[in-house]
Amino acid sequence: MVNEMNLKEYISFTKDRVETRLPEVVKALHAPVNLKESMLYSLTAGGKRLRPVLLFATLHAFGKDESMGLETACAVEMIHTYSLIHDDLPSMDDDDLRRGKPTNHKVYGEATAILAGDALLTNSFQLISEAAHPEITSHMKLQLITELVKASGTEGMISGQVADMEGEKKQLTLDELEYIHLHKTGKLLGFCVKAGAILAKATPLQQELLEEFSKHVGLAFQIQDDILDVEGSEEKLGKPIGSDTENEKTTYPSLLGMEAAKEKLQYHVEQALLSLRQAQIKHGLLEEICLYIAKRDS
Ligand code: IPE
Ligand code: IPE
Ligand code: MG
Ligand code: MG
Ligand code: MG
Repeated sequence: MVNEMNLKEYISFTKDRVETRLPEVVKALHAPVNLKESMLYSLTAGGKRLRPVLLFATLHAFGKDESMGLETACAVEMIHTYSLIHDDLPSMDDDDLRRGKPTNHKVYGEATAILAGDALLTNSFQLISEAAHPEITSHMKLQLITELVKASGTEGMISGQVADMEGEKKQLTLDELEYIHLHKTGKLLGFCVKAGAILAKATPLQQELLEEFSKHVGLAFQIQDDILDVEGSEEKLGKPIGSDTENEKTTYPSLLGMEAAKEKLQYHVEQALLSLRQAQIKHGLLEEICLYIAKRDS
């Protein structure tokens, strides 16, 4: 259990833990060198590690030791990284830059990039099933795996990505756009909070409030992602700006206008904080993360 830290220190603490563990996981796999290199290339390219931060901060809010969530946090980061590798492919968003480096398929070719994504996805579940921590029960692992499948699978992130692709070149309604954002991004972010709650044995009411919190955090996160695609700096983001416009995607700024998109973002931050403050947990860090998400520039 860490002592009180500010958010910057907490992000750095989380990064250290996750970035030490991820290469160990990949290096231990018996697989062709090129495949492991390609997996490691994207996994270790940086990234804010916001999902692990959310998971750890939820554990922290319940007074639990962050080490309980390390394997699950790494599993999420593997799934998130796989989703980015596939998202950047020519058949999807066709982007050349990710986390400040050429995209995976630009370096390893499309076939290896697709397979590296597949490998990261599949092995993420093994990490949770083999997690060895005295307080993690088999029942908890089963719950974590089931929830991770729901968040990242057909009913979660994949549906969001499909809706996002099908929505290209069409004018979507706000409801349709919200569906995309909640699924393609919100579900996995929500899983991180849920995973912390499962491991910390949160009450059903706390779980409900945290679910509401993360729904709004997910929307706020993706609205800011859309805003940064217009107003952000490629250098700070480590990915191209203007990709959404180029692919003719409906985004919050394109649908509502920039000012209204920013108001919507603020609204979701406020709603998130309202739920969080009712959960009767040590919510300081989660609150800071929520505020950070809304004003991030990377
Ligand atoms: C980018 O996610 C993809 C979206 C879901 C919008 P992040 O902004 O969390 O990317 P990294 O992990 O910091 O690179
Ligand atoms: C990607 O959304 C979401 C997933 C990878 C699941 P975006 O396409 O908006 O992400 P960026 O802007 O390329 O990071
Ligand atoms: Mg995309
Ligand atoms: Mg993209
Ligand atoms: Mg985007």
